[in-house]
Amino acid sequence: GAARPRLTFLGTGYLGATYAVCFAELGYEVLGYDVDAPKIAKLTGGEVPFHEPGLDEMLRKNLAAGRLKFTTSIEEAAAFGDIHFICVGTPQRADSMAADLSHVEDVVVRLAPHLHRKALIAGKSTVPVGTAEWVEQLVRRHAPAGSHVEVAWSPEFLQEGHAVEDVLRPNRVIFGVRSEWANDMLFAAHKGVFDLATTEDREVPVVITNFATAELVKVAANAFLATKISFINAMAEICEPAGADVTQLARAIGYDARIGNRFLRAGVGFGGGCLPKDIRAFQARAQELGVGEALRFLHEVDLINQRRRQWVVQLAAELLGRPFGPAGPDLSGVKVAVLGATFKPNSDDVRDSPALSVVRKLSRSGAEVSVYDPEGMENARREVPDATYARSVVEAVTGADLVCVLTEWEEFRTADPVVLADLVAGKVVIDGRNCLDPVLWRRAGWEYRGMGR
Ligand code: UDX
Repeated sequence: GAARPRLTFLGTGYLGATYAVCFAELGYEVLGYDVDAPKIAKLTGGEVPFHEPGLDEMLRKNLAAGRLKFTTSIEEAAAFGDIHFICVGTPQRADSMAADLSHVEDVVVRLAPHLHRKALIAGKSTVPVGTAEWVEQLVRRHAPAGSHVEVAWSPEFLQEGHAVEDVLRPNRVIFGVRSEWANDMLFAAHKGVFDLATTEDREVPVVITNFATAELVKVAANAFLATKISFINAMAEICEPAGADVTQLARAIGYDARIGNRFLRAGVGFGGGCLPKDIRAFQARAQELGVGEALRFLHEVDLINQRRRQWVVQLAAELLGRPFGPAGPDLSGVKVAVLGATFKPNSDDVRDSPALSVVRKLSRSGAEVSVYDPEGMENARREVPDATYARSVVEAVTGADLVCVLTEWEEFRTADPVVLADLVAGKVVIDGRNCLDPVLWRRAGWEYRGMGR
């Protein structure tokens, strides 16, 4: 029962695997389920299938302690869990801006027929508002007669590269519930989180609400963050011709606590598996609800973000004195070193990565591009197979006419511009993340260009 519920995490991608490991760490009996057998084999063998600081160690520790197991058997998951957390992906559909809910449907339809004991299905995946109610209908249709299965929604807010912290020490938890029992179950499932907070003299705020609000909290938060980034990138567009410095502007407006200084870094814009697809799915859903106008500004947020990527290519042409053909800038014969492939540092994730998007655009403009990233090479190669991949910063920049830093890895931020200057053919650098020190680079003889400064 509710005293120490056993937890399953359905879908062991980024979200599910991180949650499974962290909740085992908090002392729960946990079972992770996925249809992907190689992934389950890896996890069972103590290997995290993606890059997340601190997770590997925690996985092995909890496997050894016997609190954490993984399976490809949905029957086993159904028999094990008091609470089943849905953690499957909800990518953008190929044919529209809407979210693809086929994985959610799939896992619920597989699970429900085996739920012979009382259980709660709690959604964590980011979904369009209305999904929880639809899941409830699916459960009603597919669960055995007489079984007691309820649904709840409890969105998560973990950031890649920071995920362990975000799960163990969330800044809030959201329970979208329809019954006292579901509420009690979610409290029991999060007791470890609350207890940890208490020992550290913190509090974790809980928002208890209905399905629709819980679902919306997640997409609203991501829409706000995306808007904040595009806002500062729009300011960067103004700063360039006006001769202002967007990094100083951001610092200055950020001192106003109502604005805040976080998520105000101008650069090549946001990417990743969440923000871009979430703002699109949100617009699609608003249209279905007949209130598309309310989110029309998110279309603009998306456009500002896309323009950042194109801007790097344009800037490259400008700095190298290349002509603009009818099809855009002509960079044929130019050698460009791109430092960074992942959508942000401390991650190997290249989904909708601004860096790779720029690589594609540079290649299309005729440039010869050599890419280096500390963790994202394997995924980048799969995504953009026709680029050249270097084994180090040194190899990537050797002989380059232009260096573009597009992900703010520590290794790039601390690279010595004096050493690199000796390797390149042209000392021109575009700092797509405003993460380099312009004074140091200029002193070493580089022509330095940041974003909006
Ligand atoms: C995001 C949300 O932050 C998280 O709460 C949600 O659960 C999932 O989506 P994540 O995708 O891991 O997390 O990355 P995040 O750190 O939010 O960065 C997203 C993108 O925005 C990155 O490409 C990053 O480089 C960019 N970014 C972020 C900026 O360009 N400027 C900023 O100031 C902050």
